[in-house]
Amino acid sequence: DLSADLFGQSLQSPLLNASGVHCQTKEELNDLANTSNLGAMVTKSATLQAREGNPNPRYHDLANGSINSMGLPNLGYDFYLDYVLEDQQKPTILSVAALSAADAITLLKKLQASDYQGPTELNLSCPNIVGEPQLAYDFEATDQVLSEVFSFYTKPLGVKLPPYFDLVHFDQIAKVLNKYPLTHVNTINSVGNGLWVDVEKEQVVTKAKGGFGGLGGAMVLPTALANVRALRQRLNPSIKVLGTGGVTTGADVFAHILCGADLVSVGTQVMKEGLGVYDRLAAELKEIMAAKGYQTLDDFRGQLKEL
Ligand code: DHB
Repeated sequence: DLSADLFGQSLQSPLLNASGVHCQTKEELNDLANTSNLGAMVTKSATLQAREGNPNPRYHDLANGSINSMGLPNLGYDFYLDYVLEDQQKPTILSVAALSAADAITLLKKLQASDYQGPTELNLSCPNIVGEPQLAYDFEATDQVLSEVFSFYTKPLGVKLPPYFDLVHFDQIAKVLNKYPLTHVNTINSVGNGLWVDVEKEQVVTKAKGGFGGLGGAMVLPTALANVRALRQRLNPSIKVLGTGGVTTGADVFAHILCGADLVSVGTQVMKEGLGVYDRLAAELKEIMAAKGYQTLDDFRGQLKEL
């Protein structure tokens, strides 16, 4: 039994798509809605205005994962709001991206005024916008944005975080987040600004930003697990943790849940394998649970043992 829960909505499976992968157009979103063993879906992070994104090539498969410099290509806030209001067929998280603090406020004011009552995720961590920092690496700026947001926003809201690499940073971001009635944190976003070198061509593999781009896939699994675990240990229990990053097998999903993930997202592996990945991951997870004698995800969630 893989049943899970999205802020009160029951899901058949704890698996999500990672925002950005196969969730930009209506056709892609409808594909997700029809994907078995995908418990809920997330839309491509929306900006106020539609964006073309960065020049191609902007995604490159690596042996161990992927590198991308997409640049938030998306059809704009109005399109995704219409989708969740009119075409939604599966529980969905609406993702919105803050290019700046002012943008975040404008977007969420529009959302507050809309008919939408469902879950939203504020992406505080896109690594690929030229000249814009990842907001959630600035703890004070993050605090200021959330303080202003929760002065008017009353609907379910979570945040998408970048990976942190220092235990003191986990303390600092958790202290900020615990001040607010967040539904969830989704951790991690891409590991920002990696660089791959094609040795034969003596060249980078993506065009924007001189080849610097966000890393995903197997190579980021330990970073993702650390962020899920460290945040679960520090956040109020009312703030759910959505684990994203590095999942290629059912064992990886199991590991995320052991670290405390309520739900688990898959990004790079969907790019590599297609939407059939969710059936495989669900089958592998069920097999592991059966072998261990676990009936439900609650039987092991957060139960990681230390030495
Ligand atoms: C993009 C946004 C993200 O939040 C991310 O992790 C990776 C890529 C983007 O559209 O560039």
